[in-house]
Amino acid sequence: MGSAQAGKHALNKTLGPFSITALGVGAIIGAGIFVLTGTAAAKYAGPGVMLSFMLAGFACAFVGLCYAELAALIPASGSTYTYTYATLGELAAWTIGWDLVLEYSMGAATVAVGWSGYLVSLLAQFGLHLPPEFTHAPGAVQLKDGSTIHAVFNVPAALIVGLLTLMLVMGTRESARLNNLMVLIKLVVVIAFIGFGIGAVNANHWTPFIPDNTGNFGEFGLSGVLRGASVVFFAFIGFDAVSTAAQEARNPQRDMPLGILGSLLVCTLLYVAVAAVLTGLVPYQKLNVPDPIALGIDVIGQPWLSLLVKFGALAGLTTVILVLLYGQSRIFFTMAGDGLLPSVFSRVHAKTGTPYLSQIWIGVVVAAIAGLFPIHVLGEMVSIGTLFAFVLVCAAVMHLRRTEAEAHRPFRVPGVPIVPIIGIAMCALLMSALPLDTWLRLVIWLAVGLVIYFGYGRHHSVLARRAG
Ligand code: ALA
Repeated sequence: MGSAQAGKHALNKTLGPFSITALGVGAIIGAGIFVLTGTAAAKYAGPGVMLSFMLAGFACAFVGLCYAELAALIPASGSTYTYTYATLGELAAWTIGWDLVLEYSMGAATVAVGWSGYLVSLLAQFGLHLPPEFTHAPGAVQLKDGSTIHAVFNVPAALIVGLLTLMLVMGTRESARLNNLMVLIKLVVVIAFIGFGIGAVNANHWTPFIPDNTGNFGEFGLSGVLRGASVVFFAFIGFDAVSTAAQEARNPQRDMPLGILGSLLVCTLLYVAVAAVLTGLVPYQKLNVPDPIALGIDVIGQPWLSLLVKFGALAGLTTVILVLLYGQSRIFFTMAGDGLLPSVFSRVHAKTGTPYLSQIWIGVVVAAIAGLFPIHVLGEMVSIGTLFAFVLVCAAVMHLRRTEAEAHRPFRVPGVPIVPIIGIAMCALLMSALPLDTWLRLVIWLAVGLVIYFGYGRHHSVLARRAG
Protein backbone atom coordinates (compact mmCIF):
# COMPACT_ATOMS: atom_id res chain seq x y z
CA MET A 1 0.00 0.00 0.00
CA GLY A 2 1.02 3.64 -0.34
CA SER A 3 3.86 5.21 1.55
CA ALA A 4 2.32 8.59 2.14
CA GLN A 5 1.41 8.04 5.77
CA ALA A 6 4.25 9.61 7.77
CA GLY A 7 5.62 13.00 8.76
CA LYS A 8 4.19 15.94 6.88
CA HIS A 9 2.30 13.46 4.69
CA ALA A 10 -0.04 12.30 7.49
CA LEU A 11 -3.67 13.30 8.02
CA ASN A 12 -5.25 14.08 11.40
CA LYS A 13 -7.61 11.52 12.99
CA THR A 14 -10.46 13.81 13.95
CA LEU A 15 -13.72 12.21 12.77
CA GLY A 16 -16.18 10.32 15.02
CA PRO A 17 -19.22 8.20 14.01
CA PHE A 18 -21.69 11.11 13.92
CA SER A 19 -19.43 13.19 11.70
CA ILE A 20 -18.89 10.23 9.40
CA THR A 21 -22.62 9.49 8.97
CA ALA A 22 -23.22 13.21 8.49
CA LEU A 23 -20.49 13.15 5.88
CA GLY A 24 -22.41 10.39 4.11
CA VAL A 25 -25.80 12.08 4.31
CA GLY A 26 -24.01 15.31 3.42
CA ALA A 27 -22.67 13.76 0.26
CA ILE A 28 -25.87 11.93 -0.71
CA ILE A 29 -28.80 14.35 -0.46
CA GLY A 30 -28.24 17.00 -3.12
CA ALA A 31 -28.89 17.82 -6.75
CA GLY A 32 -30.33 14.33 -7.25
CA ILE A 33 -33.35 14.93 -5.04
CA PHE A 34 -33.55 18.72 -5.32
CA VAL A 35 -33.25 18.90 -9.13
CA LEU A 36 -33.24 15.55 -10.95
CA THR A 37 -36.41 14.11 -9.33
CA GLY A 38 -38.39 16.63 -11.35
CA THR A 39 -36.56 15.85 -14.60
CA ALA A 40 -36.99 12.10 -14.16
CA ALA A 41 -40.70 12.37 -13.34
CA ALA A 42 -41.51 14.81 -16.15
CA LYS A 43 -39.51 13.13 -18.90
CA TYR A 44 -39.24 9.44 -18.07
CA ALA A 45 -41.23 7.91 -15.25
CA GLY A 46 -44.16 10.08 -14.10
CA PRO A 47 -45.24 9.24 -10.52
CA GLY A 48 -43.43 5.93 -11.16
CA VAL A 49 -40.28 7.88 -10.25
CA MET A 50 -40.97 6.46 -6.77
CA LEU A 51 -40.19 3.03 -8.23
CA SER A 52 -37.12 4.49 -9.95
CA PHE A 53 -35.83 5.59 -6.55
CA MET A 54 -36.51 2.17 -5.07
CA LEU A 55 -34.70 0.48 -7.94
CA ALA A 56 -31.66 2.75 -7.69
CA GLY A 57 -31.62 2.45 -3.89
CA PHE A 58 -31.88 -1.32 -4.16
CA ALA A 59 -28.82 -1.39 -6.45
CA CYS A 60 -26.87 0.86 -4.10
CA ALA A 61 -27.70 -1.33 -1.09
CA PHE A 62 -25.90 -4.29 -2.67
CA VAL A 63 -22.94 -2.14 -3.61
CA GLY A 64 -23.05 -0.48 -0.19
CA LEU A 65 -22.65 -3.84 1.55
CA CYS A 66 -19.58 -4.51 -0.59
CA TYR A 67 -18.20 -1.07 0.18
CA ALA A 68 -18.70 -1.67 3.88
CA GLU A 69 -16.69 -4.90 3.78
CA LEU A 70 -13.81 -3.29 1.90
CA ALA A 71 -13.84 -0.11 3.96
CA ALA A 72 -13.55 -2.12 7.18
CA LEU A 73 -10.95 -4.51 5.73
CA ILE A 74 -8.77 -1.80 4.22
CA PRO A 75 -9.41 1.28 6.36
CA ALA A 76 -7.38 3.73 4.29
CA SER A 77 -8.23 6.88 2.41
CA GLY A 78 -8.80 6.61 -1.30
CA SER A 79 -12.09 4.80 -1.76
CA THR A 80 -12.32 2.26 -4.56
CA TYR A 81 -8.85 3.26 -5.71
CA THR A 82 -7.26 1.85 -2.56
CA TYR A 83 -9.22 -1.38 -2.73
CA THR A 84 -8.27 -1.91 -6.34
CA TYR A 85 -4.62 -1.12 -5.64
CA ALA A 86 -4.59 -3.70 -2.88
CA THR A 87 -6.36 -6.37 -4.92
CA LEU A 88 -5.78 -5.95 -8.63
CA GLY A 89 -2.52 -4.00 -8.86
CA GLU A 90 -1.29 -0.67 -10.13
CA LEU A 91 -2.73 -0.38 -13.63
CA ALA A 92 -6.24 -1.37 -12.55
CA ALA A 93 -5.95 1.00 -9.59
CA TRP A 94 -4.87 3.89 -11.79
CA THR A 95 -7.79 3.22 -14.12
CA ILE A 96 -10.27 3.30 -11.28
CA GLY A 97 -8.62 6.35 -9.68
CA TRP A 98 -8.91 8.16 -12.99
CA ASP A 99 -12.52 7.01 -13.34
CA LEU A 100 -13.29 8.33 -9.85
CA VAL A 101 -12.41 11.83 -11.04
CA LEU A 102 -15.71 11.60 -12.90
CA GLU A 103 -17.57 10.82 -9.71
CA TYR A 104 -15.89 13.31 -7.40
CA SER A 105 -14.68 16.27 -9.47
CA MET A 106 -17.39 16.15 -12.12
CA GLY A 107 -19.91 15.34 -9.42
CA ALA A 108 -18.90 18.48 -7.52
CA ALA A 109 -19.22 20.48 -10.74
CA THR A 110 -22.67 19.02 -11.46
CA VAL A 111 -24.00 19.91 -8.03
CA ALA A 112 -22.45 23.38 -8.28
CA VAL A 113 -24.56 23.94 -11.41
CA GLY A 114 -27.67 22.83 -9.44
CA TRP A 115 -26.63 25.24 -6.66
CA SER A 116 -26.48 28.07 -9.14
CA GLY A 117 -30.05 27.24 -10.29
CA TYR A 118 -31.46 27.44 -6.74
CA LEU A 119 -29.52 30.65 -6.04
CA VAL A 120 -31.04 32.30 -9.11
CA SER A 121 -34.49 31.16 -7.98
CA LEU A 122 -33.97 32.39 -4.40
CA LEU A 123 -32.67 35.80 -5.45
CA ALA A 124 -35.55 36.18 -7.90
CA GLN A 125 -37.92 35.79 -4.95
CA PHE A 126 -36.33 38.95 -3.52
CA GLY A 127 -36.67 40.74 -6.87
CA LEU A 128 -32.98 40.38 -7.69
CA HIS A 129 -32.47 39.04 -11.21
CA LEU A 130 -28.94 37.94 -12.10
CA PRO A 131 -28.04 38.37 -15.80
CA PRO A 132 -28.80 34.95 -17.37
CA GLU A 133 -25.71 35.23 -19.59
CA PHE A 134 -23.64 34.66 -16.46
CA THR A 135 -25.72 31.95 -14.76
CA HIS A 136 -25.62 29.32 -17.53
CA ALA A 137 -22.98 27.33 -19.40
CA PRO A 138 -21.83 28.88 -22.71
CA GLY A 139 -24.34 28.47 -25.54
CA ALA A 140 -27.92 29.34 -26.45
CA VAL A 141 -30.38 29.26 -23.53
CA GLN A 142 -34.14 29.58 -23.75
CA LEU A 143 -35.58 31.61 -20.88
CA LYS A 144 -38.96 31.15 -19.19
CA ASP A 145 -40.47 34.04 -21.19
CA GLY A 146 -39.60 32.23 -24.43
CA SER A 147 -36.69 34.51 -25.46
CA THR A 148 -33.27 33.07 -26.29
CA ILE A 149 -29.95 34.43 -24.99
CA HIS A 150 -26.31 33.40 -25.53
CA ALA A 151 -24.79 32.52 -22.20
CA VAL A 152 -21.08 33.04 -21.44
CA PHE A 153 -20.19 31.36 -18.14
CA ASN A 154 -21.96 30.06 -15.04
CA VAL A 155 -20.39 32.43 -12.52
CA PRO A 156 -22.26 31.36 -9.31
CA ALA A 157 -21.38 27.69 -9.98
CA ALA A 158 -17.68 28.51 -10.27
CA LEU A 159 -17.76 30.86 -7.28
CA ILE A 160 -19.24 28.34 -4.84
CA VAL A 161 -16.55 25.82 -5.79
CA GLY A 162 -13.88 28.46 -5.15
CA LEU A 163 -15.34 29.38 -1.75
CA LEU A 164 -15.61 25.79 -0.54
CA THR A 165 -12.10 25.04 -1.75
CA LEU A 166 -10.84 27.86 0.46
CA MET A 167 -12.68 26.34 3.43
CA LEU A 168 -11.21 22.92 2.83
CA VAL A 169 -7.73 24.38 2.58
CA MET A 170 -8.22 25.93 5.99
CA GLY A 171 -8.98 22.69 7.86
CA THR A 172 -10.90 19.40 7.95
CA ARG A 173 -12.30 19.80 11.46
CA GLU A 174 -13.72 23.24 10.73
CA SER A 175 -15.20 22.01 7.46
CA ALA A 176 -16.73 18.97 9.17
CA ARG A 177 -18.32 21.18 11.83
CA LEU A 178 -19.96 23.46 9.30
CA ASN A 179 -20.92 20.38 7.29
CA ASN A 180 -22.77 18.89 10.29
CA LEU A 181 -24.79 22.09 10.67
CA MET A 182 -25.73 22.27 7.00
CA VAL A 183 -26.64 18.58 6.89
CA LEU A 184 -29.03 19.25 9.76
CA ILE A 185 -30.66 22.18 7.92
CA LYS A 186 -30.98 20.05 4.79
CA LEU A 187 -32.65 17.22 6.70
CA VAL A 188 -35.07 19.62 8.40
CA VAL A 189 -36.05 21.02 5.01
CA VAL A 190 -36.57 17.62 3.41
CA ILE A 191 -38.66 16.45 6.36
CA ALA A 192 -40.61 19.75 6.40
CA PHE A 193 -41.37 19.26 2.71
CA ILE A 194 -42.72 15.79 3.37
CA GLY A 195 -44.61 16.84 6.54
CA PHE A 196 -46.27 19.98 5.12
CA GLY A 197 -46.71 18.52 1.65
CA ILE A 198 -48.44 15.30 2.60
CA GLY A 199 -51.64 17.07 3.69
CA ALA A 200 -51.93 18.89 0.34
CA VAL A 201 -51.39 15.84 -1.85
CA ASN A 202 -54.00 15.25 -4.55
CA ALA A 203 -54.03 11.48 -5.03
CA ASN A 204 -55.48 11.89 -8.54
CA HIS A 205 -52.04 13.06 -9.66
CA TRP A 206 -50.72 9.56 -8.99
CA THR A 207 -52.91 8.09 -11.73
CA PRO A 208 -51.70 6.78 -14.05
CA PHE A 209 -48.90 5.65 -11.77
CA ILE A 210 -46.71 4.61 -14.70
CA PRO A 211 -47.85 6.58 -17.77
CA ASP A 212 -47.99 4.61 -21.03
CA ASN A 213 -44.78 4.32 -23.01
CA THR A 214 -44.64 6.79 -25.91
CA GLY A 215 -43.17 4.20 -28.28
CA ASN A 216 -39.56 5.26 -27.54
CA PHE A 217 -37.38 3.32 -25.10
CA GLY A 218 -37.11 5.21 -21.83
CA GLU A 219 -40.08 7.53 -22.31
CA PHE A 220 -42.55 6.29 -19.69
CA GLY A 221 -43.74 2.73 -19.30
CA LEU A 222 -41.41 0.23 -17.59
CA SER A 223 -38.40 1.32 -19.66
CA GLY A 224 -39.10 4.86 -18.45
CA VAL A 225 -38.96 3.71 -14.85
CA LEU A 226 -35.57 2.12 -15.65
CA ARG A 227 -34.21 5.23 -17.35
CA GLY A 228 -35.61 7.25 -14.45
CA ALA A 229 -33.62 5.01 -12.11
CA SER A 230 -30.37 5.63 -13.99
CA VAL A 231 -31.04 9.39 -13.76
CA VAL A 232 -31.99 9.47 -10.07
CA PHE A 233 -29.11 7.10 -9.33
CA PHE A 234 -27.18 10.36 -9.18
CA ALA A 235 -29.11 11.10 -5.98
CA PHE A 236 -27.45 8.12 -4.24
CA ILE A 237 -23.90 8.91 -5.24
CA GLY A 238 -21.85 9.84 -2.25
CA PHE A 239 -22.48 7.05 0.26
CA ASP A 240 -19.12 5.73 -0.85
CA ALA A 241 -17.49 9.09 -0.06
CA VAL A 242 -17.66 7.94 3.55
CA SER A 243 -14.93 5.45 2.75
CA THR A 244 -12.53 8.21 1.69
CA ALA A 245 -12.48 9.42 5.30
CA ALA A 246 -11.27 6.11 6.74
CA GLN A 247 -7.80 7.44 7.52
CA GLU A 248 -9.22 10.33 9.46
CA ALA A 249 -11.75 8.18 11.39
CA ARG A 250 -11.04 7.41 15.03
CA ASN A 251 -12.50 3.86 14.81
CA PRO A 252 -12.79 2.91 11.13
CA GLN A 253 -13.67 -0.78 11.69
CA ARG A 254 -16.91 0.04 13.45
CA ASP A 255 -17.74 3.41 11.94
CA MET A 256 -17.22 2.73 8.25
CA PRO A 257 -19.97 0.10 7.72
CA LEU A 258 -22.21 2.04 10.10
CA GLY A 259 -21.71 5.28 8.22
CA ILE A 260 -22.18 3.78 4.76
CA LEU A 261 -25.25 1.62 5.36
CA GLY A 262 -26.86 4.04 7.82
CA SER A 263 -26.67 7.02 5.52
CA LEU A 264 -27.89 4.96 2.56
CA LEU A 265 -30.95 3.75 4.45
CA VAL A 266 -31.92 7.19 5.73
CA CYS A 267 -31.64 8.68 2.26
CA THR A 268 -33.61 5.97 0.43
CA LEU A 269 -36.57 6.34 2.80
CA LEU A 270 -36.54 10.11 2.46
CA TYR A 271 -36.27 10.00 -1.35
CA VAL A 272 -39.24 7.73 -1.89
CA ALA A 273 -41.29 9.93 0.45
CA VAL A 274 -40.21 13.14 -1.31
CA ALA A 275 -40.96 11.64 -4.74
CA ALA A 276 -44.42 10.54 -3.55
CA VAL A 277 -45.29 13.95 -2.10
CA LEU A 278 -43.88 15.92 -5.02
CA THR A 279 -45.74 13.97 -7.70
CA GLY A 280 -48.86 14.15 -5.52
CA LEU A 281 -48.62 17.96 -5.29
CA VAL A 282 -47.78 18.83 -8.90
CA PRO A 283 -48.83 17.00 -12.09
CA TYR A 284 -45.64 15.25 -13.19
CA GLN A 285 -45.64 16.95 -16.64
CA LYS A 286 -44.85 20.29 -14.98
CA LEU A 287 -41.84 19.15 -12.98
CA ASN A 288 -39.03 19.68 -15.51
CA VAL A 289 -37.75 22.89 -13.85
CA PRO A 290 -34.46 23.81 -12.09
CA ASP A 291 -36.20 23.97 -8.68
CA PRO A 292 -38.99 21.33 -8.61
CA ILE A 293 -39.15 21.06 -4.82
CA ALA A 294 -39.83 24.79 -4.58
CA LEU A 295 -42.56 24.36 -7.18
CA GLY A 296 -44.12 21.65 -5.02
CA ILE A 297 -44.04 23.89 -1.96
CA ASP A 298 -45.78 26.70 -3.88
CA VAL A 299 -48.86 24.48 -4.14
CA ILE A 300 -49.17 24.56 -0.36
CA GLY A 301 -49.35 28.35 -0.57
CA GLN A 302 -46.91 29.29 2.20
CA PRO A 303 -44.28 31.75 0.87
CA TRP A 304 -42.15 31.42 4.03
CA LEU A 305 -41.93 27.67 3.47
CA SER A 306 -40.84 28.21 -0.12
CA LEU A 307 -38.07 30.49 1.12
CA LEU A 308 -37.01 27.95 3.72
CA VAL A 309 -36.91 25.18 1.13
CA LYS A 310 -34.72 27.21 -1.21
CA PHE A 311 -32.34 28.08 1.62
CA GLY A 312 -32.28 24.45 2.69
CA ALA A 313 -31.63 23.27 -0.84
CA LEU A 314 -28.74 25.69 -1.14
CA ALA A 315 -27.28 24.47 2.16
CA GLY A 316 -27.85 20.87 1.08
CA LEU A 317 -26.15 21.31 -2.24
CA THR A 318 -23.25 23.10 -0.52
CA THR A 319 -22.53 20.09 1.69
CA VAL A 320 -22.48 17.77 -1.32
CA ILE A 321 -19.96 19.92 -3.17
CA LEU A 322 -17.88 20.15 0.01
CA VAL A 323 -17.74 16.38 0.54
CA LEU A 324 -17.00 15.62 -3.11
CA LEU A 325 -14.15 18.16 -3.27
CA TYR A 326 -12.82 16.74 -0.01
CA GLY A 327 -13.06 13.16 -1.29
CA GLN A 328 -11.25 14.00 -4.51
CA SER A 329 -8.27 15.49 -2.69
CA ARG A 330 -8.02 12.41 -0.44
CA ILE A 331 -8.07 10.06 -3.44
CA PHE A 332 -5.32 12.09 -5.12
CA PHE A 333 -3.45 12.08 -1.78
CA THR A 334 -3.31 8.30 -1.80
CA MET A 335 -2.53 8.07 -5.51
CA ALA A 336 0.36 10.49 -5.10
CA GLY A 337 1.61 8.45 -2.15
CA ASP A 338 1.81 5.48 -4.50
CA GLY A 339 3.76 7.60 -7.00
CA LEU A 340 1.03 7.59 -9.65
CA LEU A 341 0.62 11.37 -9.35
CA PRO A 342 3.26 14.03 -8.56
CA SER A 343 4.07 14.38 -4.84
CA VAL A 344 2.52 17.85 -4.76
CA PHE A 345 -0.83 16.03 -4.42
CA SER A 346 0.20 14.45 -1.12
CA ARG A 347 1.83 17.48 0.47
CA VAL A 348 0.09 18.42 3.71
CA HIS A 349 0.20 21.92 5.19
CA ALA A 350 2.20 22.01 8.44
CA LYS A 351 -0.40 24.09 10.31
CA THR A 352 -3.81 23.18 8.87
CA GLY A 353 -3.05 19.50 8.23
CA THR A 354 -4.79 19.58 4.83
CA PRO A 355 -3.46 18.66 1.37
CA TYR A 356 -3.76 22.32 0.45
CA LEU A 357 -1.96 22.45 -2.91
CA SER A 358 -3.93 19.50 -4.25
CA GLN A 359 -7.16 21.03 -2.98
CA ILE A 360 -6.41 24.31 -4.77
CA TRP A 361 -5.62 22.56 -8.06
CA ILE A 362 -8.83 20.57 -7.84
CA GLY A 363 -10.82 23.69 -6.98
CA VAL A 364 -9.55 25.62 -9.99
CA VAL A 365 -10.30 22.81 -12.46
CA VAL A 366 -13.73 21.97 -10.97
CA ALA A 367 -14.73 25.66 -10.93
CA ALA A 368 -13.87 25.95 -14.63
CA ILE A 369 -15.87 22.81 -15.49
CA ALA A 370 -18.84 23.99 -13.43
CA GLY A 371 -18.82 27.29 -15.29
CA LEU A 372 -18.56 25.75 -18.74
CA PHE A 373 -20.89 22.72 -18.91
CA PRO A 374 -24.66 22.18 -18.50
CA ILE A 375 -26.03 19.95 -15.74
CA HIS A 376 -27.32 17.05 -17.86
CA VAL A 377 -24.00 16.45 -19.66
CA LEU A 378 -22.11 16.47 -16.36
CA GLY A 379 -24.71 14.39 -14.52
CA GLU A 380 -24.70 11.56 -17.05
CA MET A 381 -20.90 11.39 -17.04
CA VAL A 382 -20.92 11.21 -13.27
CA SER A 383 -23.48 8.41 -13.26
CA ILE A 384 -21.70 6.20 -15.78
CA GLY A 385 -18.30 6.73 -14.17
CA THR A 386 -19.65 5.92 -10.73
CA LEU A 387 -21.55 2.83 -11.87
CA PHE A 388 -18.35 1.56 -13.48
CA ALA A 389 -16.50 2.06 -10.18
CA PHE A 390 -19.29 0.25 -8.30
CA VAL A 391 -18.99 -2.78 -10.56
CA LEU A 392 -15.30 -2.99 -9.68
CA VAL A 393 -16.02 -2.74 -5.96
CA CYS A 394 -18.35 -5.74 -6.11
CA ALA A 395 -15.78 -7.65 -8.17
CA ALA A 396 -13.02 -6.77 -5.67
CA VAL A 397 -15.03 -8.28 -2.79
CA MET A 398 -15.37 -11.60 -4.61
CA HIS A 399 -11.71 -11.56 -5.67
CA LEU A 400 -10.44 -10.81 -2.16
CA ARG A 401 -12.57 -13.54 -0.61
CA ARG A 402 -10.52 -15.98 -2.70
CA THR A 403 -7.03 -14.42 -2.53
CA GLU A 404 -7.21 -13.22 1.10
CA ALA A 405 -9.59 -15.80 2.50
CA GLU A 406 -8.00 -15.72 5.98
CA ALA A 407 -7.91 -11.95 6.45
CA HIS A 408 -9.87 -10.63 9.44
CA ARG A 409 -13.07 -8.97 8.18
CA PRO A 410 -14.73 -6.77 10.83
CA PHE A 411 -17.73 -6.59 8.50
CA ARG A 412 -18.68 -9.43 6.10
CA VAL A 413 -21.08 -9.15 3.18
CA PRO A 414 -23.67 -11.91 3.67
CA GLY A 415 -24.28 -14.37 0.85
CA VAL A 416 -21.08 -13.93 -1.22
CA PRO A 417 -20.98 -14.32 -4.21
CA ILE A 418 -24.74 -13.76 -4.72
CA VAL A 419 -24.85 -10.25 -3.23
CA PRO A 420 -21.88 -8.84 -5.22
CA ILE A 421 -23.17 -10.51 -8.39
CA ILE A 422 -26.60 -8.90 -7.96
CA GLY A 423 -24.78 -5.60 -7.31
CA ILE A 424 -22.87 -5.93 -10.59
CA ALA A 425 -26.00 -6.93 -12.52
CA MET A 426 -27.98 -3.98 -11.12
CA CYS A 427 -25.23 -1.48 -12.00
CA ALA A 428 -24.94 -2.93 -15.51
CA LEU A 429 -28.71 -2.59 -15.91
CA LEU A 430 -28.61 1.08 -14.90
CA MET A 431 -25.61 1.73 -17.16
CA SER A 432 -27.44 0.14 -20.09
CA ALA A 433 -30.21 2.75 -19.81
CA LEU A 434 -27.78 5.67 -20.33
CA PRO A 435 -27.38 7.20 -23.82
CA LEU A 436 -24.73 6.02 -26.28
CA ASP A 437 -22.76 9.29 -26.35
CA THR A 438 -22.30 9.05 -22.59
CA TRP A 439 -20.74 5.62 -23.13
CA LEU A 440 -18.47 7.09 -25.79
CA ARG A 441 -17.30 9.86 -23.45
CA LEU A 442 -16.48 7.27 -20.81
CA VAL A 443 -14.30 5.31 -23.23
CA ILE A 444 -12.45 8.47 -24.33
CA TRP A 445 -11.94 9.52 -20.72
CA LEU A 446 -10.47 6.15 -19.79
CA ALA A 447 -8.20 6.19 -22.89
CA VAL A 448 -6.79 9.59 -21.88
CA GLY A 449 -6.13 8.13 -18.45
CA LEU A 450 -4.11 5.28 -19.94
CA VAL A 451 -1.97 7.75 -21.90
CA ILE A 452 -1.18 9.61 -18.67
CA TYR A 453 -0.36 6.38 -16.85
CA PHE A 454 2.05 5.15 -19.51
CA GLY A 455 3.53 8.65 -19.86
CA TYR A 456 3.99 9.33 -16.12
CA GLY A 457 2.72 6.95 -13.43
CA ARG A 458 4.33 3.80 -14.74
CA HIS A 459 7.83 5.33 -14.47
CA HIS A 460 7.37 7.24 -11.23
CA SER A 461 5.36 4.80 -9.14
CA VAL A 462 6.53 3.31 -5.86
CA LEU A 463 6.37 -0.15 -7.45
CA ALA A 464 8.48 0.94 -10.43
CA ARG A 465 11.10 2.46 -8.11
CA ARG A 466 11.20 -0.72 -6.03
CA ALA A 467 11.61 -2.86 -9.15
CA GLY A 468 14.25 -0.50 -10.64
N1 ALA B 1 -25.99 12.36 -4.48
C1 ALA B 1 -25.52 13.66 -4.73
C2 ALA B 1 -26.60 14.56 -5.19
O1 ALA B 1 -27.73 14.18 -5.29
C3 ALA B 1 -24.36 13.65 -5.64
O2 ALA B 1 -26.35 15.71 -5.40
